[in-house]
Order: sequence, then C-alpha cells, then structure tokens
Amino acid sequence: MANTKKVVLAYSGGLDTSVAIPWLKEKYGMDVVALTIDVGNEKDFTAVKEKALKAGAVKAIVADAKEEFVKYFCFPAVQANALYEGVYPLATALSRPLMAKLLVDVAREEGATAVAHGCTGKGNDQVRFDVGVHALAPDLQVIAPAREWKMTREETMAYAKKHNVPVPVTKKSPYSIDENLWGKSIECGVLEDPWVEPPDDVWVLTKSPANAPNKPVYVEIGFEKGIPVSLDGEEIDGQALIRHLNELAGEHGIGRVDHIENRLVGIKSRELYEAPAAITLIRAHEALEAMTMSRDQLRFKAKVVIEISDIIYNGLWFGGLSRDLSAYIQSSQRYVTGTVRLQLYKGHIQVVGRKSPHSLYNLSLATYDKGDKFDQSAAVGFIHLWGLPVATQAQVQLLPDAEGPLALMGGVASPKKNSKNPGKTAKKKVKKLNR
Ligand code: ARG
Repeated sequence: MANTKKVVLAYSGGLDTSVAIPWLKEKYGMDVVALTIDVGNEKDFTAVKEKALKAGAVKAIVADAKEEFVKYFCFPAVQANALYEGVYPLATALSRPLMAKLLVDVAREEGATAVAHGCTGKGNDQVRFDVGVHALAPDLQVIAPAREWKMTREETMAYAKKHNVPVPVTKKSPYSIDENLWGKSIECGVLEDPWVEPPDDVWVLTKSPANAPNKPVYVEIGFEKGIPVSLDGEEIDGQALIRHLNELAGEHGIGRVDHIENRLVGIKSRELYEAPAAITLIRAHEALEAMTMSRDQLRFKAKVVIEISDIIYNGLWFGGLSRDLSAYIQSSQRYVTGTVRLQLYKGHIQVVGRKSPHSLYNLSLATYDKGDKFDQSAAVGFIHLWGLPVATQAQVQLLPDAEGPLALMGGVASPKKNSKNPGKTAKKKVKKLNR
C-alpha cells in the first residue's frame, strides 16, 4: 500500500464531502486525508474528525485558521470596504484562497499528488479553489467529486449507506449554507423563487428588526490605519471584536442581505447573507475614511473597491492585479486612524460621531459661527472661473438648440428688445408655465 497515491480533501463533515471519501478511494484509488479548516464556523470539530475517519479517511486533520483568516482576509477586506455588487461582504469568497493555500500546504506535508473539494460545477467556489491551487501548486491535480459524480441527493444517500458513511439523522436543512466568522451565506429551497420572502427560520445570526430591542445601542470602534483595534475605548483582539459585533449588531437586526447576484459562471442566483460584524465594521470604516481622506482619494478608492471586490469574488486572489490593488489600499490607509461612534437600532446603522488625529475636517473653515476663517469673497472669483465653461457652452450650444432639453421645457425667457423692464417677460413666462 506504500505506493497508493494520496489526495487531501477539504472536508466539511457534510454528506457530500463524507461520500467523497469512499468515492475518491473507489474512483481514483487514492488514500484520502481529510482536512477540515476552522474559519469560525462553530462546529464540533472533534465529531467532524471522527466522521471523516469513519468514512474511511486515512487521516483527519483540523486546522485552526481563524487568526489568519481575520488578519489576512477579513481585516484587509474592511480596509477595502469590500462588498461584491455593493452588498455582499464576501465571507465565503474570502475563505477560499486561504483554504486553497492550506490544502496545498497539507498536500506537500503528506506527499499527496492531488487535492479535492466538495464544490459542484455551478458555483463560484469551484473556481476559487481550482484557481487558487493551480496558482500555488500547478503540479497538483484538483478533483471535485460532486462536479463529476452526477448523483442526485437520493443516490448520494444510497452511496453513503452502501459505504458505511453515516448519513445525517436530522432532517436536512432546506437551505444550502456556508458560514464563517465573517458571515453566513444561505441559498436554495424556497429562496430559489425570488418573489418569496425569506421565511423567519432562515435568519439565525440576525433578529428581525421588528423584534429587535426598542432602545438603540451605541458602540465606538477604534481603527489604526484602517484596521479595527478597539471597542468602546478598550483594545480588543480581532476575533473577539468580530464575535462581539456579530452578536450585538445581530441582536439589533443588522446585517441582513437579500440579493440576486451575478455568479462568475453566468448564472443569476438569489442568495441571502447574514454578516452583522462585517457590515458594521465596513460602515464605520467608511465614515472614518470620509473624515481622513481627500475627495480625490475617496473617489478613486471607490473604483478600486469595485475592482478588488470582483477580484475576490471571481477567485483571482493570488493574481497580480489583486496584489497591486491591495498595495494601493494599504497605502491609502496611512491616516485612517481614529474612532467612529455608531448607533445600532432596529436594523439600521447610523454613524453619529467620528474623530481622528488626522482629520481633514477643519472647524474654522466649516463653521457658520464665529471663528470662521473661510474667505467668502474668494468664492466669487472661484465661481466665475469654475462656471466659465458652462456659461460659454450654454450660450453657444444649449440656448440656440431648438430640440435640446431647454426647448423641451418651453425655453427660457430672454430680455425683450428695447424693453425697459426685461424682468416682466420672464415673470409672464413663468406664470404661463405654471398653468
Ligand atoms: N454566493 C456566494 C459566493 O459565491 C456564497 C456561495 C456559497 N453559498 C452557499 N449557500 N453555500 O461567494
């Protein structure tokens, strides 16, 4: 048996990855090393390990990757304000490149020639795993049993029974769920009808805003160069902060997303997300950026956010553009240090205060009270030059245009020739328009 090839399987403990163990043995003649990666998915990992061995794995490993996940994926995603299509905080997507890396690490340790994962051929996750592994270890074969075996759920159950794989005794959740510290993704079942309102039982991390406490709660989040470092004035470790905010913001009904998204493989799919901490942290971070970055930096970064979110979603984490844009984001965070005060109330996050030693907000420029240092007389010359191109173009092109937008409104009043009171015509015209 010494020559039997080995495959390292990303093992979740679910039915599909459990069945994959005897299936890989049968179809590929490989010994299976089960690797379960803990990214904060609240499981009984001892039970998962036992299950893998029972299903026939030669070895079962549990890797605690929570710290790396927070440090190298979740918090950089906060710095980037990463939201796919403006709404999805990318919890599932962010975990995949880390898993791909760990699969490769373990494959090397074990002398394996292949890695395997439980993704089907319809989703984004297969892309993220495959591309990640191909990038880091082109010599490793990637096998996706569920993409190959074409078994229905009933057939999978039968296969499991035949191979002494423990089948789930509890009724299967009607949903497909992926969860980690950064959030939860929920799809399938009744949710496949985009008109159907998600039943209450879908939501686990978040209370319905209707049932959330009637009193708002306030939190203060401190950032150091864009990384969240403190809660209500006390330094706090990243994992603890995320857990705390998942609970607190979730209790206040924050973090629910119901979205029809564009998968990389061309399918539109309806997915729900629960991500109370992720959304709270990103909102707070955006508020601090608004105070500490210039208008131009903010405008430019908004474009980078769209790009980097697509990169994460589309499985290109280990690519060059990803690296370059990450460097830009890092650089943009130099002065994003300070504290943001948030009110959490019935599903809503309201930024109510912010402060920073690098704030660009200047009271003596902004104030309408005494202490005003803004030279209002300078506005006249500024506006003259600012509006010069508009005024020029309006005279030459807009006003004479008989089919233009002004003409459609009935034109604009012009001074009457030889009139002593040109304002009269204008008034008349307005009256007519109001009729
Ligand atoms: N649509 C999300 C993504 O591609 C989540 C995928 C996993 N979802 C699930 N319910 N199992 O990142």
